[in-house]
Amino acid sequence: MEQVKVLLNESDMPRRWYNIQSDMPTPLAPPFHPATMEIATPEQMHVIFPMALLEQEMSPAPYFDIPEEVMQVLALWRPTPLMRARRFEKALGTPAHIYFKNESVSPAGSHKPNTAVPQAFYNKQEGIRRIATETGAGQWGSAMSLACKFFGLDCRVYMVRVSYDQKPYRKSMIHTWGAEIFPSPSDQTNAGRAVLAQDPNHPGSLGIAISEAVEDAVSHEDTNYSLGSVLAHVCLHQTIIGEEAIRQMKVLGEKPDVVIGCIGGGSNFAGISFPYVREKINGMDVRILAVEPASCPTVTKGVYAYDYGDTAHMAPIVQMHTLGHTFIPPGIHAGGLRYHGMSPLVSRLYEDKLIEAIAVPQLECFEAGVLFARTEGIVPAPETTHAIRGAVIEAMKAKEEGKEKVILFNFSGHGHFDMSAYDAYLAGQLSNYEYPQKLVEEALTHLPHVTLPAM
Ligand SMILES: Cc1ncc(COP(=O)(O)O)c(C=O)c1O
Repeated sequence: MEQVKVLLNESDMPRRWYNIQSDMPTPLAPPFHPATMEIATPEQMHVIFPMALLEQEMSPAPYFDIPEEVMQVLALWRPTPLMRARRFEKALGTPAHIYFKNESVSPAGSHKPNTAVPQAFYNKQEGIRRIATETGAGQWGSAMSLACKFFGLDCRVYMVRVSYDQKPYRKSMIHTWGAEIFPSPSDQTNAGRAVLAQDPNHPGSLGIAISEAVEDAVSHEDTNYSLGSVLAHVCLHQTIIGEEAIRQMKVLGEKPDVVIGCIGGGSNFAGISFPYVREKINGMDVRILAVEPASCPTVTKGVYAYDYGDTAHMAPIVQMHTLGHTFIPPGIHAGGLRYHGMSPLVSRLYEDKLIEAIAVPQLECFEAGVLFARTEGIVPAPETTHAIRGAVIEAMKAKEEGKEKVILFNFSGHGHFDMSAYDAYLAGQLSNYEYPQKLVEEALTHLPHVTLPAM
């Protein structure tokens, strides 16, 4: 039989997360506090984050041990399978070997629990009782609800309104795991009420939902905020994906020529790719490719600048690729990719030319996603179809060049809650959104001005 998957034993699970900050040629610029406009101190950020996560956020240490309690929960679905997409390769007629790391096997259906579990653990350890968070597509909100339940924390989720309406069963799942959920903008916070006053039918955005969750955390003594992407500690927790993949590729005796992930805030891409960036820095010949939506092309069309992480200026100001925090992306079905900013780590690596990025339109992604579902069986999340589209582009190049290229992509999640998007696609009702250049240009006039102290 032709081998199609590599499964690791639980005892082979990586026991450490990899911190790319220890190897980056250019260190990250410091975050700024949105109220004082001065460099944010860990003590200030401690109002919403536990110290253990802040330490991971800023540390130059190359590795962090994964706590035993976290390992035990991760072992419910990890290590995840590494799959060879042989039937997909055949359908494409490519000589390329296409591998994918299947993160859809987690209980929430995506990579998101990889960081939700340690985040809940560290918050619990520091005496927090309740978590407030936002969610775009619903994957992160479900993951955090699950993780909070495992560690006995209450959880409230603010879900971007357009996704809340598109994916009603995410709400049911979040309720099943015992958390609360509100469509954002909501009437539960000042930030939400201010947006609703201007437009009662506002579709919402991740920037607004983040503002609501941060406000909730700041205004409740027993509550912390939790972010499912963007930040360095989130990317750190996701590196277990790439560390496993490196071991699995070794079992096969294969080395990827290109490693691919979709990017919303950057975390699943960080997860699969940062351990490979380490290998690249150490001499491995590998390309690393991030794929973003053409309608929200943060890295390929945004500027690299300091910007707010949210709409109401409550989250720290960080240096990253941004389309402007006031930019509201079109209501594409890949809700998890509708974010104006990008992980500062991913942004820095792009600036330093260690990674590449492309932007792809929604229809090509669904076409690739449907072909994948019809050949490999798994229905991908709309976000994940962007990585699949990236893999198709690389596989077709290999075909033109007649090369047996090895492609590895991260299958970040399944689309079982996104079937309305597939209905629309299959009925020919989906269209591409043009890059909203005018809106981005306008949004970029609202970037904050911060001054770095002289060295
Ligand atoms: C399945 C899936 N993939 C990708 C993403 C994008 O997020 P990130 O860039 O942090 O991986 C999301 C976010 O909601 C998601 O649900």
